[in-house]
Amino acid sequence: TWTTDSIVEEQVELVRAQVGGKRVVCGLSGGVDSAVAAALVQRAVGDQLTCVFVDHGLLRKDEARQVEEDFVAATGVRLKVVDARERFLTALAGVTDPETKRKAIGREFIRVFEQAAREVVEEAGAHGEQVEFLVQGTLYPDVVESGGGAGAATIKSHHNVGGLPDDLQFALVEPLRALFKDEVRKVGLELGLPDEIVWRQPFPGPGLGIRIIGEVTEERLAVLRDADAIAREELTAAGLDREIWQCPVVLLAEVRSVGVQGDGRTYGHPVVLRPVSSEDAMTADWSRVPYDVLARISTRITNEVRAVNRVTLDITSKPPGTIEWE
Ligand code: XMP
Repeated sequence: TWTTDSIVEEQVELVRAQVGGKRVVCGLSGGVDSAVAAALVQRAVGDQLTCVFVDHGLLRKDEARQVEEDFVAATGVRLKVVDARERFLTALAGVTDPETKRKAIGREFIRVFEQAAREVVEEAGAHGEQVEFLVQGTLYPDVVESGGGAGAATIKSHHNVGGLPDDLQFALVEPLRALFKDEVRKVGLELGLPDEIVWRQPFPGPGLGIRIIGEVTEERLAVLRDADAIAREELTAAGLDREIWQCPVVLLAEVRSVGVQGDGRTYGHPVVLRPVSSEDAMTADWSRVPYDVLARISTRITNEVRAVNRVTLDITSKPPGTIEWE
């Protein structure tokens, strides 16, 4: 069996052999896989790697800062940040259909990433160097899933960094191809990444954009970010992080619910808690989170997040319900 240090050593050697003296680019999504893949490649080839982080404004509270500051501090990686928050809000204005929303986010993402990758190529060219490789945090289950024909992945359009134009093609570096998620986490810890990144829940590429049912606006994102942060804090405080696969918090932005808050009647919006237990996200069951933990989450969200006056619990397994609502 492999130990974690031997995985790191072996992958570092393989990456060095593959990349040689060429330059490498890597898109960071804010998730565990791309962070660990980038950290491994950085360990192998240092400043030959440039990471690109597209801040689309759809991440959860504090996640962009953790990438921009904590990840960089832990790895010393060379990072290019693109602030694309306005651009994504513009692209999402008026969009409510889930697939249209996913496609709009995927399309903007690839355009912004493409532009950033071109800049990296040009900067390297100015020093007589070539960018030949793109890092992807593909894991073993992804390899199996995409090789295995029709799977759940085709039910919703997932976005990866595919679809770059012909004049901007790279060979792939996939240092996590043989690993499962738990091994990826161990490798991340071995490489010195912060716990907040290594233990991050799976999070969809389109981010909070697909957890707002209805149009995505800056205001709604702020509401959802606050509610989500409270749910995460309480689940962590209750020691449930490792038991729960993930707990999306969904804002029903087009539903108005009546409440009494303070001394008056309010029209607010419900949020849905969607805690699930799963091995691989292909199937899932709703998590039996203790009532007292649910009670704390509900009380805090309705006290602390003005626009939300109702907290509901999703008790649907997958199938038939997917984990995300859109
Ligand atoms: P569903 O909602 O299909 O989600 O049950 C299964 C798992 O995949 C995540 N998810 C995504 N991950 N890009 C991703 O990288 C996406 O577009 C995407 N959509 C859903 C979801 O959070 C769950 O873990």
